Amino acid sequence: MALDPQCLSGRNAVVVGASSGINLGVAHRLGSLGAQIAIVSRSPDRIAAAADALRADGLDVTHHAGDVREATAMQAIMTEIADAKGPIDIVVSGAAGNFFVPAAKMSANAFKTVIDIDLIDTFNVLSAAYPHLKRPGAVLVNITAPQAERAMPMQAHACSAKAGIEMLTRCLALEWGVEGIRVNAVSPGPIADTEGLARLATDAELAKRIRDALALPRFGQLIDIGNAVAWLCSEAASFVTGTTINCDGGMRLGNLYAPG
Ligand code: COA
Ligand code: NAP
Repeated sequence: MALDPQCLSGRNAVVVGASSGINLGVAHRLGSLGAQIAIVSRSPDRIAAAADALRADGLDVTHHAGDVREATAMQAIMTEIADAKGPIDIVVSGAAGNFFVPAAKMSANAFKTVIDIDLIDTFNVLSAAYPHLKRPGAVLVNITAPQAERAMPMQAHACSAKAGIEMLTRCLALEWGVEGIRVNAVSPGPIADTEGLARLATDAELAKRIRDALALPRFGQLIDIGNAVAWLCSEAASFVTGTTINCDGGMRLGNLYAPG
């Protein structure tokens, strides 16, 4: 079912980790459905360039630079956005960092770095937004990954972090639902032309093996994730909370008999 082209009209949406890739695609989709967008990431230059690209497509965008590992930075950004635009309707938390390294060679700081950027940040972002959320009606969406359920070699840090995000999603849904706040997650599979996929599929042969092991053997597109997030944010999902939408081409099914 197609989403109503104005289904997010006037909504005040914040997308964190939106200087590139999937989250920038999400920001674009929410904006194209009528939301006013604030995008956030660490690098001032990259987030400013992303905002320019969204504005070039006619979208209503502000941009904010801050490190998700710093709770006070996230608090200052959410306050700035709410002061300027009013209560926040939508928050998408999707900043992440990842690299391949066997657990036996992973330093304590390497493990901590990914936990900090992927999991602690989700708490920092959502708890910074909490005082400013529209009640009832706010929708929070965390970006997770199939690693939350599927163990993967060289991904002990990312698997642990994403599993934590999905549990955090359920805990916050339970605590905040009574205030009319919904909390969900979207788990993308491998998405074409993204940094995350480039770091996972380091050569063409590995990329082909990853693709062919999907139930739907193609890489996803940015719009696939944009649509999943937008649906969760829309009234069509008004009774949906505490869940993860797997928009992953069936990656979690773990095809043992994949060709190759
Ligand atoms: N293999 C093993 N260890 C690595 C590593 C790799 N490829 N890359 C980083 N590390 C280790 C570092 O050695 C360091 O540990 P140490 O102090 O024990 O040496 C620790 O991880 C932190 O690295 P640092 O470069 O200081 O972290 P950072 O905060 O500057 O950057 C990253 C974080 C490493 C995740 C960086 O790649 C990043 O910013 N990524 C964002 C984009 C991204 O990953 N996109 C995909 C999203 S799925
Ligand atoms: P990406 O383009 O590298 O985007 C990562 C974003 O996180 C960037 O905006 C980056 O900002 C931001 N970020 C990283 N560290 C930060 C920090 N410390 N503080 C603030 N912002 C920080 O990655 P992507 O591949 O699109 O992935 C986006 C999300 O989708 C991630 O949550 C990832 O786990 C998930 N995912 C991706 C895939 C895939 O196939 N790509 C599959 C499953 C799940 P700056 O670099 O500008 O600072």
